[in-house]
Amino acid sequence: MAQSQWIKRFCFQLRLKSSQLFIIAASVLLSLLITLICVGLTIRYEVSNEVANLGDVDYWKDAVSAQQKLWYDKGIEELKDAMAMRTSESQPRNIQILVINGIDAPALANARFSSSQPSNFVWDRFPHVARIKNSCSHSSPCNAANVIKAIWTGVPLKAAPKLDSSCGHNASHAGQLLSVLRLAQLAGRRTGFVTNQRITGATAAALYANVAQTSWECDGLVPVDAIESGCEDVAQQLISGETGQNLNVLIGGGRQLLSANVSTFPYDPLDELLCRARSGRNLLRDWLQHKLKLKPSKHFELVQREEQLSTVNGNSLDYLLGVLANGDLSRNSQAPSLAIMVDKTLQVLRRPVVGHLLIVEHYVQQQGEARVKELQLLNATLANLLGPKDTLTLVLLTNANNLSSAETQIVSTLQEAFDEQGSHLQRRMQQMPSESLLFATGPKSSLFYSVHEETYLAHALSYALGMDVFGRQLQL
Ligand SMILES: *[C@@H]1O[C@H](CO)[C@@H](O)[C@H](O)[C@H]1NC(C)=O
Ligand SMILES: *[C@@H]1O[C@H](CO)[C@@H](O)[C@H](O)[C@H]1NC(C)=O
Ligand SMILES: *[C@@H]1O[C@H](CO)[C@@H](O)[C@H](O)[C@H]1NC(C)=O
Ligand SMILES: *[C@@H]1O[C@H](CO)[C@@H](O)[C@H](O)[C@H]1NC(C)=O
Repeated sequence: MAQSQWIKRFCFQLRLKSSQLFIIAASVLLSLLITLICVGLTIRYEVSNEVANLGDVDYWKDAVSAQQKLWYDKGIEELKDAMAMRTSESQPRNIQILVINGIDAPALANARFSSSQPSNFVWDRFPHVARIKNSCSHSSPCNAANVIKAIWTGVPLKAAPKLDSSCGHNASHAGQLLSVLRLAQLAGRRTGFVTNQRITGATAAALYANVAQTSWECDGLVPVDAIESGCEDVAQQLISGETGQNLNVLIGGGRQLLSANVSTFPYDPLDELLCRARSGRNLLRDWLQHKLKLKPSKHFELVQREEQLSTVNGNSLDYLLGVLANGDLSRNSQAPSLAIMVDKTLQVLRRPVVGHLLIVEHYVQQQGEARVKELQLLNATLANLLGPKDTLTLVLLTNANNLSSAETQIVSTLQEAFDEQGSHLQRRMQQMPSESLLFATGPKSSLFYSVHEETYLAHALSYALGMDVFGRQLQL
C-alpha cells in the first residue's frame, strides 16, 4: 500500500514538472543540432581547403595504410598536374600533326598494356584530348577517302561542290576546297607531308587535289575521254596545282603512279592493286623542270633511294621530293626509316623566322607484337618532334581502312553483287566505325576538348593559323 502511494506522489510531482522537462529536452536537442551543423561545416571547409591546397594533404595521407599511400600519392600527383594545367592561347608558329591510321581506342589500350613494363605513350601526357566523329560509322559501304577529305578541308564531301563530268574549269574553281595545307601556305608557313603510303593516296588527294572520282589517283584509272576534256588525276595535280607546287617537302611512295617507266626490284615490286601511269608519263621529270624554271632560283632535290635521302642536306633546301617506292612506301623493305624521313623534313622546314605545318601520316599494317613495335617507333619519333615551345602538336589516331583505289573501284562496281571478294571488301570497309582520337599539346591545344564533328579539325587549325577556311586573314 505504502509503495503505491509513493509512486502516485512521484508521478504527481513529475506531472507538475513536465513543462520544465520539455524545455530541458528541447534545449539539449537544439545544442546537439547546432554542434552537428558546426561539425558539418568544419568538415566541408576542410575538404574544400584540402583540395585547393594540394601541398597540404599530409593529414589525409596519414589515415591510409602504406600500400594505399603509394596509390594515393600517384593520384595526388595526377590531380596536381590537372590543376596546374595552363594552355597558352597565343598563336602557334608551327603546327605538327602525326596521323596514325589503323589504330582505334581498343587497339591503343591493348598496346599500352601489352609489354611487361606498361608505360605511357608520349601523347598520353598531352593536356588535351578530343574525339572526332566518323561519318563512316553509319554508312556502309563507306569510302574512307570522303572522311579524309572532310577532315582536311572542313567540308563534308556530300556538301562540296562537284566537278562536272568534263572537269570544266569553272566548276573546278567554284568547287576548289582549300585544305589545311593550302591555308598554311597562304598564312606564310613552310609545308611538308610525309607518308608511309603513296604521295597520291587519300590524304594527299585531300591535301592538294580536287578530282571528280576518288579513284583517279593517276591517269591509268581516268577514262580517255575525261583526260581529253581536261580532267586531271591526283598525281598530275601534284605538279600542276598551287598547293602541290608550293609544298616544301613531300616524301612517300607511289612512283608507279608518277612515271610509266620505273625499275622494279624484289624488295620494291609494282603493286598490281594500285593505279599505273599511262605510257609517256614522267611527272618526276616534270617536277624537276618546274623547279628549274622558278625565279628567283631555288634549291631543290629529288631523291628516290634511302642512301640519297640520308645524304641530303635539308638545311640548304627549299624543296625536297622523295619518291622512295613503286607502290606504298611500307611495301618497300629498303625504304628509309621514319626517323630519317622526319629528320630530313624538319631540316627543310625549320627556319629562323618562318613557321611550318608538317603532316606525318603513318598506316600501321601489322597485328599483334609487330603492331606494338610500330607504335613504339611512332612514340619515339614523336618524342623527337616535340621541343619548340611555340608549336601546336597533334596526334590523330583513326582506324580508317587502307583500301587501294582499285579496291574501292571493285566495291563501287560490285555493290549489288554478292561476290565473295566484293563482300569481303565491303566488310573491310565497314571496319571503320569508331571515332578518331585526337591528342593535343602546345598553344591553342585547348581548342580540342570534346566530341567534335569530323569537319572541325580543319576549322580549328585554320583558326590557329589565323585564317578562315576560305583563305582570308582572320580579324580577331
Ligand atoms: C614513349 O616515349 C617516351 C619518351 O621517349 C618513353 O618514356 C615511353 O616509355 C615510351 N612509351 C612506350 C609505350 O614506348
Ligand atoms: C564559265 O562560266 C561562264 C559564265 O558563268 C560561261 O560564260 C563560260 O562559258 C564558262 N566557261 C567554261 C569553260 O565552261
Ligand atoms: C626507261 O628507263 C631506263 C632506265 O632508267 C632507260 O634506259 C630507258 O631508256 C627508259 N625507257 C623509256 C621508254 O623511257
Ligand atoms: C592493308 O592492306 C594490306 C594489303 O592490301 C593488307 O595486307 C593489310 O592487312 C591491310 N591492313 C589493314 C589494317 O586492313
